[in-house]
Amino acid sequence: MSLFEHLLEPWVFMWLSITHIPATVRALVEAKDYGTLFSPSGFREALFGTFWAAYGLNIKEANEERVVALLEGRVKEGRIYDNVVSTPVYGTVLEVGAGSGNWADVFAQFSNTSTAGGTNGLRKRKSPHGGITKIYGVEPNPISAKALKQRVKEVGLEDIYQVVPVGIEFVDDSSAWEGKIEPGSIDCIVGVLCMCSIPEPEKNMKMLYKLLKPGGHWFVYEHVKVTRGGPAIRFYQWFCNIFWSIFMGSCRICRDTGKGLRSAGVWQEIDIMQPPDQPSYQVLPHIYGTLKK
Ligand SMILES: C[S@@+](CC[C@H](N)C(=O)[O-])C[C@H]1O[C@@H](n2cnc3c(N)ncnc32)[C@H](O)[C@@H]1O
Repeated sequence: MSLFEHLLEPWVFMWLSITHIPATVRALVEAKDYGTLFSPSGFREALFGTFWAAYGLNIKEANEERVVALLEGRVKEGRIYDNVVSTPVYGTVLEVGAGSGNWADVFAQFSNTSTAGGTNGLRKRKSPHGGITKIYGVEPNPISAKALKQRVKEVGLEDIYQVVPVGIEFVDDSSAWEGKIEPGSIDCIVGVLCMCSIPEPEKNMKMLYKLLKPGGHWFVYEHVKVTRGGPAIRFYQWFCNIFWSIFMGSCRICRDTGKGLRSAGVWQEIDIMQPPDQPSYQVLPHIYGTLKK
């Protein structure tokens, strides 16, 4: 992408979201959900849910190679390798901000149940650690959580994938949903483009750290604050974020998620960085890689 295309990118996303305002209003009126319709924050979330249900899949497709390589353990220092160079995803997984289930088909490929994905002809991916045995998909947006449940059924994951329809801040609170995720019970956290949306990110990253078992892994693919670029591009990102926060739900583009993750707790290994092929003027840059507790 050229410099011009990078500068334009946030505005393209915002415009796509704006085009979903009529559909969001229609859906809320049909559901007689006037509380959400007339609440600025509720409406913003509903708009983002509608937008993501329509465009999330395109965004997933654009990022699929990176995320699959990450879960296969083929990423080191922001680069993709042909062979396994780190730990592939395994065991009990917590998917943060699962959205409408765009990654459910990928998880089905890593699951070790014989039925998951089988009816859809999805390929199976090998994991030396025995694959995924259980997934908690945490998603508070009711529009997205409904779509997520449907997607989990479509890919044949309903035996092992549990939708947790609350914010990440409530996963250990049994009064908020029908369950509780205990500290030290999760093998792998997978966060794809979601830390940008959670409230009180530093506090909640610390809480997520506590849910990981010692030796557990956090797989990270997040868009973050510009760090490589100079003051002009940082100012431009900050300026875009003012409008972004109006049209893109709770998502923010100026978060230093890398710093938050590093200081969430004590890590044995940290391998997260901006992919070297992303230019310094990228307005929506990423961090990519894993942390091992
Ligand atoms: C940009 S979307 C990404 C969705 C999904 N990971 C994907 O790649 O398709 C960010 C998601 O984070 C969710 N989110 C917002 N607040 C959250 C919270 N407190 N806890 C967990 N997820 C949250 C949003 O509802 C949204 O579905």
